[in-house]
Amino acid sequence: MREWTREERYQRYEDVSTEALIDLKSTVNQSPYRQTFHIQPETGLLNDPNGLIYANGTYHVSHQWFPLGAVHGLKYWYHYTSEDLVHFTPQGPILKPDTQYDSHGIYSGSAFLFDGQIYYMYTGNHRDEDWQRHASQMLAKVETDGTIHKFPKPVIAAPPEGYTQHFRDPKVFLHEDALYAVIGAQTVQEEGCLLLYRSEDAIHWTFKGQVETDLAQFGYMWECPDYFRVDGHDIIMFCPQGIDAEGEHFKNIYQSGYLMGQFDIENQVMQHGDFKELDAGFDFYAPQTFEGKEGQRILIGWMGLPDTQYPTDEEGWAHCLTIPRELSVENGILKQRPIQALQHLRTNEETALGYANKFQRQLHPYEGKQYEMLIDVLDNEATAIYFELRTSKTATTVIEYHTRTQEIVLDRSESGPLPQPVDGTRRTTRLITPLTQLQIFVDTSSIEIFCNDGERVLTSRIFPPEGATGIKASTESGQAYLKFTKYELKG
Ligand code: FRU
Repeated sequence: MREWTREERYQRYEDVSTEALIDLKSTVNQSPYRQTFHIQPETGLLNDPNGLIYANGTYHVSHQWFPLGAVHGLKYWYHYTSEDLVHFTPQGPILKPDTQYDSHGIYSGSAFLFDGQIYYMYTGNHRDEDWQRHASQMLAKVETDGTIHKFPKPVIAAPPEGYTQHFRDPKVFLHEDALYAVIGAQTVQEEGCLLLYRSEDAIHWTFKGQVETDLAQFGYMWECPDYFRVDGHDIIMFCPQGIDAEGEHFKNIYQSGYLMGQFDIENQVMQHGDFKELDAGFDFYAPQTFEGKEGQRILIGWMGLPDTQYPTDEEGWAHCLTIPRELSVENGILKQRPIQALQHLRTNEETALGYANKFQRQLHPYEGKQYEMLIDVLDNEATAIYFELRTSKTATTVIEYHTRTQEIVLDRSESGPLPQPVDGTRRTTRLITPLTQLQIFVDTSSIEIFCNDGERVLTSRIFPPEGATGIKASTESGQAYLKFTKYELKG
């Protein structure tokens, strides 16, 4: 990967020649890894989902965007609209780094409705002459005609005393007639935490305090916080950086998880159980939630990780967003299911019913690179079941189910080129109940595995060769009676 100078990273894309942009676009378009039903950057790097909202009949989805290459440089927000969260219309960049306060990046933030208008609150990232970071929270109003009016000055100018300039990613929510913003922060002792602000007019914000939790010394920075209530439970989500792996948990470079319990907003006190990971896959970070058309809680994540090089970097682009998931809490368990509307993408249903045994079996005529696969485990006397997807003579992506331990393992050791540095090639999650169902979404270079109707999810990029289209099932010993339903997905 070529080295990018600071000047190159902080170049405005409006200043780049049309020819250079056309060249970049044509390099990107030649990539064999372009996705078909996921939001991906037209060029350059995508990271966090931003400004998610459903308002006046339209969904709005934006994301962090550095247009000029697959590095974290000068960030914009790139905007899409959608009627159903499945088909998206690109609207181009909506927030650009063009003021003193956001001169070095429009960082992550959220959307909210106030007086019937959409507002965005985001972090303005500024670097001074000594390259010192200055973070402030900025506000932008979307006018009725769709034009965006940025407020000239930050609405929260700086972190409170006792906190560093790692102060970002405001998530605004409404609670009893007032607006609140939860913001990711770091204490001067370099501990990650969340700060809470309150406002009655969206413009003037008062610092309420640090959110009290039972977590002490839990990483050095908490990014991308969120708060919402679902099925009578309060959930605070955030992405702690600097947590050590514990057995099969916290294996990625940075984590993304949640606390569930009761949040006393007036006093900023969260009573909660353990911090739990949202996703057990390799590539998942910075999720954000919002309320959908029917009041349901929907989550979209970034299918990538910071500080990691991906095989598409050389092709001038990196990353995509996850498919949207609907959240619910059932019997105390947070469940994540792909949104129903994804069924609009289904075509060409094929089904198969049969026993899998230790002789590896190719599911003919099944094959594909972009599809949804439902696997019902109707009876299982096997010690372990192996599902292989995107297989060829040289590549395979394996999902293992170990019956005794109820563990699902995703093995991408032979999937194709891997993101670097490689931190293990297997990810494991233990199911709460024996495996009955898998719902798997495969796109050109990704796999999202929903286990037991949303009990666990594993989200990962994979970069298989183009000819790797096979699907196989087998067991370690004993047999399993399985039903497969496969749909091609037309994005
Ligand atoms: C998380 C993050 C945010 C920040 C943004 C910058 O991936 O580091 O904390 O606002 O990305 O692109």
